Amino acid sequence: MTEMRLTPLQYMERVAAHFGTAPHAVFVSTFGCQQNEADSERLCGMAHAMGYADAATEEEADLILINTCAIREHAELKVLSYLGTLKALKEKKPALLVGVCGCMPAQGHRVEQLKKSYPYVSFTLDPASLDKLPEVICTLLEGGRRRFVTGEENPPIAEGLPCARRVRHKAWVSIMYGCNNFCSYCIVPYVRGRERSRASGDILREVETLVADGCHDITLLGQNVNSYRGDCDFAALMEKIACLPGDFRLRFMTSHPKDVSDRLISVMAEHGDKIAPHFHLPLQSGSNDILARMNRRYTRERYLTTVGKLRAAMPHIALSTDIIVGFPGETEEDFNATLQVIEHVEFDMIYSFLYSPRKGTPAATMEAQVDAAARAARMERLLAVQNDIALRLATPYVDRTVRVLADARGKQEGILAGRTDTNRLVYFAAPEEMIGQFAYVKITRAEPFALRGELINPK
Ligand code: SAH
Ligand code: SF4
Ligand code: F3S
Repeated sequence: MTEMRLTPLQYMERVAAHFGTAPHAVFVSTFGCQQNEADSERLCGMAHAMGYADAATEEEADLILINTCAIREHAELKVLSYLGTLKALKEKKPALLVGVCGCMPAQGHRVEQLKKSYPYVSFTLDPASLDKLPEVICTLLEGGRRRFVTGEENPPIAEGLPCARRVRHKAWVSIMYGCNNFCSYCIVPYVRGRERSRASGDILREVETLVADGCHDITLLGQNVNSYRGDCDFAALMEKIACLPGDFRLRFMTSHPKDVSDRLISVMAEHGDKIAPHFHLPLQSGSNDILARMNRRYTRERYLTTVGKLRAAMPHIALSTDIIVGFPGETEEDFNATLQVIEHVEFDMIYSFLYSPRKGTPAATMEAQVDAAARAARMERLLAVQNDIALRLATPYVDRTVRVLADARGKQEGILAGRTDTNRLVYFAAPEEMIGQFAYVKITRAEPFALRGELINPK
């Protein structure tokens, strides 16, 4: 007779009982995007509920969880090389459990590779199966064999899992999972499945709890947040959250340019007290031909119209974007079109990526892959153009006083690092007790990627 399946909570209790008072510790390594950061907080929360304490290093751990990314080849190579460093640990400590979680083991060929070439990997969990962690640990501790778990494509959202947040003053809140867009270069829809949105009531309750706990910076997360379709749309969700009482600022990422509604823009403008004046809007390319082959479903003109509307409603809004350099078939002309849009829009920040072919995506087999030297040369030109723009946009901050959420210690003694509402990095001298608090800082110096200033309101 097969045993009845328990709930994640029951498995957690069973593992905790298995360990009793014997000490055991978990080490979680996170690669990839903010979604993975948020998922790792759940993995860690479940491990704590099973009685694992935090290990300071991999050497001290009885369980190592690696939350992986597959967005570019480099991301996967980084994970594999990290995994290589764990082999010796497993030899020294045979009871060590090593789990590979997240986007990489959602791909069949990677699971095969892990099975064959990494025998010290005890289990894998794809992003749809993270709530199976307690069950898998339980069966392994009770003598079970290695497990390679892939969930259904559209699993129900597991609410109520414990969450171990790293810091108190800022938080990620996932509002939706998966992606339906199938941009032709992107692996995400294959590894994260179709779009699923949480109920707005669950999201509101989570935000309320965070704010009551002293959280001042909340970022709503999803691969495409503005296609959120819970029991309301994204603009309505933002409005509901912005109406909650408390001293917090609200951010969101990532948005898709095709889904920016007029209503969202007006909600942002109306709730400027809560919603940060920052919009991350990935352009990817400024060439209509490339955008069409990327399957982005907007044109350069439509993108610029959206930017115009955002700036008309919120003149001080900061814009940031993602650019892919060297998409298959990208000509000098296409690339120049991208540079033109960048010059025209003047983004505060650009995250630029060399195109990386991903197995199973349509772009990977497109003709005319751009050679590495041309890609590198374009990337250099892009960075030079953006450097000038970033400095140009930073300079007017000098002598202005801005609100900054003090985030962490800076590199120098006595200096804190924080972010403005527009998400600019600011360094300023202040006591460490200010970490996690809002501060008012007068800017004295502007550099392309950081501002420096003096604290106005020492406490
Ligand atoms: N859902 C978000 C983020 C996706 S991943 C969005 O739609 O914008 C973050 C960024 O990685 C993307 O915006 C894109 O610029 C980049 N990216 C995705 N796949 C890539 C690939 N195969 N090669 C290079 N960059 C890629
Ligand atoms: Fe990838 Fe496109 Fe989905 Fe973003 S919107 S995750 S780039 S497929
Ligand atoms: Fe990477 Fe998965 Fe995020 S592929 S970028 S960790 S959704």
